[in-house]
Amino acid sequence: SEKNDNYRPNFHFTPKKNWMNDPNGMFYLNGTYHLFFQHYPEEPKWGPMHWGHATSKDLIRWEEKSIALYPDEKGYIFSGSAVVDKNNTSGLGKNGIIPIIAMFTYHDIVGERNGEEEYQSQAIAFSLDEGMTWTKYSRNPVISNPGIRDFRDPKIQWDGENQQWLMVLSANDKTLIYTSGNLLDWELASEFGKGVGGHGGVWECPDFFPIKVSNTNETKWVLIQSLNPGAYNGGSGTQYFIGDFDGKNFIPENYLKDLPAEHDYWLDFGKDNYAGVTWSNAPHDIDERVFIGWMSNWQYAQEVPTYTWRSAMTIPRVLEVKKKNDNTYRIFSKPVKQLDSLSQLKYSNDMENTEGEFLLADKSRVNMDKLRIKLQIPEIENREYRFELKNSTGDQLVFGYNDNSGNFFIDRRNSGNTGFSENFANRISTAPRTSDKNILPIEIFIDKTSVEIFYDSGETVMTEIFFPHAPMEKLSLQSQENDFSIKKLKVYELQLN
Ligand code: FRU
Repeated sequence: SEKNDNYRPNFHFTPKKNWMNDPNGMFYLNGTYHLFFQHYPEEPKWGPMHWGHATSKDLIRWEEKSIALYPDEKGYIFSGSAVVDKNNTSGLGKNGIIPIIAMFTYHDIVGERNGEEEYQSQAIAFSLDEGMTWTKYSRNPVISNPGIRDFRDPKIQWDGENQQWLMVLSANDKTLIYTSGNLLDWELASEFGKGVGGHGGVWECPDFFPIKVSNTNETKWVLIQSLNPGAYNGGSGTQYFIGDFDGKNFIPENYLKDLPAEHDYWLDFGKDNYAGVTWSNAPHDIDERVFIGWMSNWQYAQEVPTYTWRSAMTIPRVLEVKKKNDNTYRIFSKPVKQLDSLSQLKYSNDMENTEGEFLLADKSRVNMDKLRIKLQIPEIENREYRFELKNSTGDQLVFGYNDNSGNFFIDRRNSGNTGFSENFANRISTAPRTSDKNILPIEIFIDKTSVEIFYDSGETVMTEIFFPHAPMEKLSLQSQENDFSIKKLKVYELQLN
């Protein structure tokens, strides 16, 4: 219906029809990025899970393909990953064709309904035509269930240093690390996470990869671990750990070893970035790891007011690791550079001594539904800065930074249609600022029903969705002080054709 398409974003991936959750099986090959996703093609809610498929040359403009994996008598096809098996270590390649190997979780719905514990196992599928069609491996499952209820979401990765395949798997309250020479026979190497970090719910959708620390020759390992519920602002969220890998064990940095449940190592503090993982085989991935997340939250994902399609992905982001002055490491998320060539600069500005409120953007100057804004606030000390996104029906989405509390925030309580779930707009989301710089750089993406805010060059990110009664018309910035300055304002419109 028209209402649904009014809410469909312009530059975020959405399924043509019906339900989507986690990104799955992402790999890059020969100029094409592949994105698979948890998909129920029959209804706009979670159900028998398939892997949908889409491809893109630039990570932004996607073309949906036919369904890659259908559920079968062994179960639903839950989340998982894919790699390019260049040396045909699996032996599943034929006639010199390089196989793509996917690993996913079988969720045996019959077993679950019968009250069994062991209904999740890991299985393989392979493609001999660069991901377009898939064959399930004849000896599935390749890892059967050892007696753990939540045992899922395998993420595979080539470990060049130790010349082995790695796989991380979520097992209820920990991450399991497996190794393999051929992607088919797997050995449990170690486990991580019991009692470390957030444990308000089940661990899901891990990722584990090496990355160069920016501006050094040092390499660190990043373990991404989604959690539902128990996120910083409630419901689903994604935490991360940084450390070293000895070929079997993940050894977190000392200051992370006893990381409490309440901590500030989250990839995104907004409520709508979950189950995200990174592309395999992407160019320069030791420096620039490309990530995408599901832009929703299990608290209300199935109730959001879109009816023919449901859920979008975040914009893809490059993850970088930086070492801070206090010798801790943090992940910085940056919008992928492919967005730059699609961003048309509409105007730029430096503003001094603005009285109370400054209109950053409005519909007479830029399409408010395809908006990208960069700016810097040079003086933040003891001040509050509020961005207000508004329309003429009185809806407003408010976000910003309060230096007295040291918190960023998003307030979507009056952002429009919020009544579909009591958890959607019952509180203001916050994020602690971890940068100690006096200048605050900010980058904002607004796409009809979502806002993604990258503070401090991506050190703190907040992503949230909202459903206004009418399109948003203007974005202003205000501070309680009478006058304030902003620098290097740049306002862009995304051009997608
Ligand atoms: C995360 C998740 C995964 C699971 C999938 C099922 O959102 O619960 O753990 O594989 O969704 O659709």
